[in-house]
Amino acid sequence: MIKIAHRGISAQAPENTRSAFELMIPLGVNWLETDIDMTADGHLVLIHDSKVNRTSNGNGTVNHNSLMGLQKLDFGQWFAPAFTGERIVTLDWLIDFINEHHINVNLELKTNVRGEQQNFYLMRLHQAIHRINRDNQIIVSSFDVKLLKKFHELMPKITIGLLTAEMISENTVTRARSVGATYVHPDVNGLTEADIQLLLDYQLPVNVWTVNDIAVAQRLDNWGVHAIFTDFPKTM
Ligand code: G3P
Ligand code: MG
Repeated sequence: MIKIAHRGISAQAPENTRSAFELMIPLGVNWLETDIDMTADGHLVLIHDSKVNRTSNGNGTVNHNSLMGLQKLDFGQWFAPAFTGERIVTLDWLIDFINEHHINVNLELKTNVRGEQQNFYLMRLHQAIHRINRDNQIIVSSFDVKLLKKFHELMPKITIGLLTAEMISENTVTRARSVGATYVHPDVNGLTEADIQLLLDYQLPVNVWTVNDIAVAQRLDNWGVHAIFTDFPKTM
């Protein structure tokens, strides 16, 4: 079973920062997951929440601020004083990093932008993905089915994972097929062996988030889960 570093090594460093990704190298972790949003001036940045409030010393919405404005904020201090000075990370930086270190990546499309702005987001994503080396594996995922469908039309060769927080049913399979998904990414909470089996019966391998308990990871492995997202990829 593959272990994917969730927002980098987010148990030991502030999520989605350079430190969280760079820590993967000495630990020998070769899969990461990150969340992608867009600044007001059209730069793709790595951040989970739509606002900067929880993970920086500032406040406000990512989509309403310029990259230069966001770069003035500290994204490390909230986690521990030792990480003071962490800056928001751009997708461009991450791609140079994964190319250099041969790291596989799950890019989660996490944005509230709509309309023309959303088309611009997808266009920037398209440009960025073209820069990833051919031998790095890529999965693009989202909870947003419409956005995922648009992405799949734009880049049909890129592997898709359908994120879901709902109970697994035949409806999950229908939605996965409608976006051209190769994988289903369910929430670990409430997930049963029968759920996994249902998806596997439809040839949909399963990547589960977010698993930080060793006994749970072991059980999922026995159930035939393909990968887990974890904040502790080295101990799982
Ligand atoms: O992609 C797996 C996981 O990251 C989905 O949930 O909220 O952590 O982005 P979230
Ligand atoms: Mg995520």
